[in-house]
Amino acid sequence: MKVLSIVGARPQFVKLAPVAHAFSAAGYEHVIVHTGQHYDTRMSDVFFEDLQIPEPDVHLGVGSGSHGVQTGAMLGALDAVLEEHAPDWVLVYGDTNSTIAGALSAVKLHLAVAHLEAGLRSFNRRMPEEHNRVLTDHAADLLLAPTEVAMAHLADEGLADRSVMVGDVMTDVCFLVRDAVGGQQPALPQGIDPANDYLVSTIHRAENTDDPARLRSIVDALNDVPMPVLLLAHPRLVARCAEFEIDLHGGSIVTANPLPYPGMVAAVMHSRGVVTDSGGLQKEAYLLGVPCTTLRTETEWVETLEGGWNVLDPELTSLSELAVRPTPTTTQRAPYGDGQAAQAVASVLAARVR
Ligand code: UD1
Repeated sequence: MKVLSIVGARPQFVKLAPVAHAFSAAGYEHVIVHTGQHYDTRMSDVFFEDLQIPEPDVHLGVGSGSHGVQTGAMLGALDAVLEEHAPDWVLVYGDTNSTIAGALSAVKLHLAVAHLEAGLRSFNRRMPEEHNRVLTDHAADLLLAPTEVAMAHLADEGLADRSVMVGDVMTDVCFLVRDAVGGQQPALPQGIDPANDYLVSTIHRAENTDDPARLRSIVDALNDVPMPVLLLAHPRLVARCAEFEIDLHGGSIVTANPLPYPGMVAAVMHSRGVVTDSGGLQKEAYLLGVPCTTLRTETEWVETLEGGWNVLDPELTSLSELAVRPTPTTTQRAPYGDGQAAQAVASVLAARVR
């Protein structure tokens, strides 16, 4: 069996890692296409190195741009690549512009498409990611869902007969890396002492970064938190703060570059809590047993809200208390699987080759 994976943004490299290893163990031919949506070394190359993902076979080098320009450039470049490789499956991941471009390109060429992390919904139609996931699910031939909740969303949209529950591949990699880095004191950026309490924060979503008043209120709220906040600054955040003349230094915030995946897992494990708008990081905090405060009106990973592990605080009303709340004592019920999802992906694809 030959599978062609299309990835382009940081969270997709994390999902690709366990899948690439499972395909390699099963002896499948695997072609990796990197769209170039994320191109900074810290956003891309370090993930391939640290997570031992084979080098991409094809690099489209698309880079940044408006949604139409970025997605269109991917579409323009993908046809020839897909025709040349003629895979049994095109596999797309998550909810980025690289996901929708890959799915659309493949279905137009009558290639079988599988969507990994299918069925997640925020029901917020102002999010670019929501359009990407809904459209990809409806275009794809096979929907690989991470949770029962995702399966239910797919059924509600009439997609039950194309859906298979495989579990969450990010859990596979999170558990592996947790076990590898677990006992070590993390090497944290300057200004954060791992022996004392600190929070880990990331902010990158368009709805939080692209409106200057909103971004300023988030930065102000983080600066008021009563312990150091390690803000791992995504390039979009840095660019918008420069544009709006918002100073990321001062108050509680300690700004640093994005961390490689093992460093991130270690930093979260040793932290007092996480404040984020990232989907993946909310779930990683939950899996690592750390309380998370999410600066959004909703979450796709609704299971994290149970027992108070994750709390939504879009209005920033009580961030300085919420962010430093004690770790919940409630038991988690493992809604994201047992860390074997990538193997399930490999078997399901093999069983359904057309
Ligand atoms: C994208 C995804 C989002 C995902 C996120 C993970 C879409 C619509 N959004 O958002 O779902 O959660 O990736 O990070 O696909 N930039 C750099 N260097 C890079 C990458 C980006 O400087 O390596 C800057 C550019 O100024 C760019 C901006 O970041 O314009 C935003 O990048 P983009 O790929 O458009 O979206 P993300 O915000 O990263």
